[in-house]
Amino acid sequence: MSNIIKQLPDSVANQIAAGEVIQRPASAVKELLENAVDAGAGDIKLVVKDAGKTLIQVIDNGSGMTPMDARMCFERHATSKISKAEDLFAIRTMGFRGEAMASIAAIAQVEMKTRPHGDELGSCLKVEGSGLTEQETCQCAAGTNIAVRNLFFNVPARRNFLKSNNTETRHIIEEFIRVSAINPQIAFSMLHNDKVVFKLQAGSLKSRIVGIFGKPYNERLLPVQQKTDVLTISGFIGKPEFAKKTRGEQYFFVNKRYIRHAYLNHAVSNAFTELIPSDAHPSYFLNIEINPEDIDINIHPTKTEVNFKEAGYVYAILHAAVKQSIGKYSLTPTIDFNLNPEVETAFSQLPRKDLKQPGININPDYNPFKQSSSAGFEKPHHRPQGQQGWQKLYTETLPGQKTETSGREENEEAEQGLLETGHASPFFQLQQRYILTNVKSGMMLIDQQKAHERILYESFLEQLSGNIAASQQQLFPQTIPFSPDDAGILRSLKNEIGKLGFVMETFGASSFVVKGVPSGLKETDVAAILEKIVQNFKEQSTDLQSDKNINLARSMAANLSIKAGTRLEEREMADIFQRLFLCKVPQVSPDGKNILAIVPLTEIEKFLK
Ligand SMILES: Nc1ncnc2c1ncn2[C@@H]1O[C@H](COP(=O)(O)OP(=O)(O)O)[C@@H](O)[C@H]1O
Ligand SMILES: [Mg+2]
Repeated sequence: MSNIIKQLPDSVANQIAAGEVIQRPASAVKELLENAVDAGAGDIKLVVKDAGKTLIQVIDNGSGMTPMDARMCFERHATSKISKAEDLFAIRTMGFRGEAMASIAAIAQVEMKTRPHGDELGSCLKVEGSGLTEQETCQCAAGTNIAVRNLFFNVPARRNFLKSNNTETRHIIEEFIRVSAINPQIAFSMLHNDKVVFKLQAGSLKSRIVGIFGKPYNERLLPVQQKTDVLTISGFIGKPEFAKKTRGEQYFFVNKRYIRHAYLNHAVSNAFTELIPSDAHPSYFLNIEINPEDIDINIHPTKTEVNFKEAGYVYAILHAAVKQSIGKYSLTPTIDFNLNPEVETAFSQLPRKDLKQPGININPDYNPFKQSSSAGFEKPHHRPQGQQGWQKLYTETLPGQKTETSGREENEEAEQGLLETGHASPFFQLQQRYILTNVKSGMMLIDQQKAHERILYESFLEQLSGNIAASQQQLFPQTIPFSPDDAGILRSLKNEIGKLGFVMETFGASSFVVKGVPSGLKETDVAAILEKIVQNFKEQSTDLQSDKNINLARSMAANLSIKAGTRLEEREMADIFQRLFLCKVPQVSPDGKNILAIVPLTEIEKFLK
């Protein structure tokens, strides 16, 4: 038998290798944009025709290349960014493999003009299917201008495999966003079929995000900043109320390189759990600066994964940083119902951040379980300023009610009209489950149990953070036995449980004597709730104090909330309504369910046609 193994010609080998790096027009866009960033450009323009199938052009004002480098850059494994193996552990540039230009040249017709800033003349080159067809000295702007035409012209299978123009354009835009979002110091623009898609000025990260995603983002972002010896996390998260139903605006960067990381995504999402519906995804734009030695990016050119040496540590810091940011800044409820702008305006006038959830904290004795609840009803003692917001939301819709709420006295009056029974009631209970009320654009439905859970949850969180004292009721001492394991957990929570209003002492090896409980808790429920608390702690994944508190507050709120099926007096409904809108997050229950919905008049009209 004769020998059959032959070395492939370079052009074929290059084509095969190119397929690894350049899979679609968007991959070429990514590589060219990253090269321009690496070249230190202050201005980068992307011009695309027919979803990149006809033309992808990137024009930068970066370093430019000498005639020799301009020729060299199309060779495989030709790079100016690393020169020895150790350099792999100190990578600060986007590129380092020296494969992109060679790959692009293997599967397209490329024309490049480039000139270093100090040089008078530049070089113009044409490369096609890996072969240089022309190189001459020419006049051109400083920087590099590279035009890639007819991608995959010599790989018909690949070309036919491309998706519709819409899909390919989406991919290109996504790559454009990934590179431009994290480089706000660089001006970027994108033209598609002669139309401007993006025009982004150099500026701050915030202005860049707003430039990309639109003006409303000005109001939607919370800064995140955390520095430790090992890493620095900076960027923005979207406020909880703007979490999306689809996983869209989630951007992690490590040393300004876009990455995906399921574990770190969990660190962020988890910080939002009690604040957003369970099927919603928070937005984030976060950069982690870390010593390149502590990560491994050397995986695959098209992969967006990064391995961290200390992933657990990064998780904990990230989680805490996001939590802190939410806690610090999101005291301002901004409800986006995507509905009538009037409703939004009314909501935007809700009490603002200087408020400290007054009602809930001051009147913990109020227990809507009790049938005689209206007797125990008390109005919150504090009247936060600016509270006309929620009143306005519906008082204006009630015919015959005073709508002027300018002076203090009139305020009081409006409140009387609102809270007192006897007049036409602004609240109606549906099926002993929902509270219905008027809003400007139609009807608001509130789930009574979830609303009350949210109110209690925030109130218990306040107690746990030590801002207010818990109120207690005395018990005839009850001895409750636990397994040694569970008793250990309870002992470790002694401090927190005390803050919630439990008075208990250890008894024997693993029993407790309970002498006092948070007011509102039924004697018969004491053992059950302590067990629930222990159970929740077994499932908890982190040791953070904030998670501890959330866990406890959740268990307590779930246990003590008014359940569906409880009849409510009008005053109780008014009270729940009022306290709900003093919550930090009135629209979502602690376990991530929607608390309220607005049925617009237009919908109601449609029903009745
Ligand atoms: N826009 C540009 N401006 C200046 N130099 C560039 C540009 N694009 C590419 N180069 C040079 O060409 C080399 C090869 O580019 P590339 O194939 O993308 O590999 P890598 O980016 O991994 O080094 C780069 O290392 C750089 O020196
Ligand atoms: Mg590169």
